[in-house]
Amino acid sequence: MITIIGSGKVGGDAALFSALKKLDDEILLLDVVKGLPQGEAMDLNHMLSEQGIDVNIRGSNDYSDMRGSKVVVVVAGSGRKPGMTRMDLLKINAGIVKDVVENIKKYADDSIIVPVTNPLDPIVHITYKTSGFDRSRVIGMGNMLDLSRFIQFIHEATGHSRDSIRALVIGEHGESMLPLPRFSTVSGIPLSSILSNEKLDQLVQDTRQVAAKVIELKGATVHAPGNAISAIVEAILKDRKRVIPVATPLDGEYGQSNVSIGVPAVIGRKGVEKIIELDLNQQEKEWFNKGVDGVKAALAGI
Ligand code: 2OP
Repeated sequence: MITIIGSGKVGGDAALFSALKKLDDEILLLDVVKGLPQGEAMDLNHMLSEQGIDVNIRGSNDYSDMRGSKVVVVVAGSGRKPGMTRMDLLKINAGIVKDVVENIKKYADDSIIVPVTNPLDPIVHITYKTSGFDRSRVIGMGNMLDLSRFIQFIHEATGHSRDSIRALVIGEHGESMLPLPRFSTVSGIPLSSILSNEKLDQLVQDTRQVAAKVIELKGATVHAPGNAISAIVEAILKDRKRVIPVATPLDGEYGQSNVSIGVPAVIGRKGVEKIIELDLNQQEKEWFNKGVDGVKAALAGI
């Protein structure tokens, strides 16, 4: 069973994509709001009926229903409103997430937790500390989403198929995220031989800013996060060993400890099976460490 805690638009979309990909027979939508997860589950099941897909989606307000979950996605919390940074949300969401994680410990202590609530990196660290789980079982979804945006910008700039683009974004899921043109290619052809440095710098800037733009235009980001969640759940449940940037607690990797932040990792049935250390140049290290400092300062503030 996959449990998704938080049945708003992103939670609903995560259930939708997970069901269409048939990632498990059973998906549980949990929420404290009465009726919301039940209604969302009904609507999704009606869609699945026409599709002829026998995945059963259930809605509940009772945390004990998550017993037996292999993966628990945490989307609960307040969303980012226009003009807000992800850090503005920390105070509100830290308390909500701690309460949710206490319940995961109680009812699904064998599960892998996928935090999605913002500000993502501090929330991942709070989840890790509160759960007491091995760090391999806490996999934050943030850079995966940043990556989907970077790929879209590369696609628009080159005209090449999205399917040919292999790219990477690491670091904070926030203002100092680190899209990495040096580690990005179109079917193995370095991006630097296709686009000018000025253009690449522009794509990096655009990737950092585009979520705020979507929020300004439509109030929230929904489909890209919903899909990115399902991609991580898929890598876990299907033991894909996919190399994905995820936010995870660091223990000496990248010269950092006592912090969670986005790094490339091998994701499979056991969760984060290996963290991959890239040979970053000076400028890249500066951005990465700027993100680390921001996350540490946020954690120190609560
Ligand atoms: C996003 O990047 C708001 O963090 C969320 O879509």
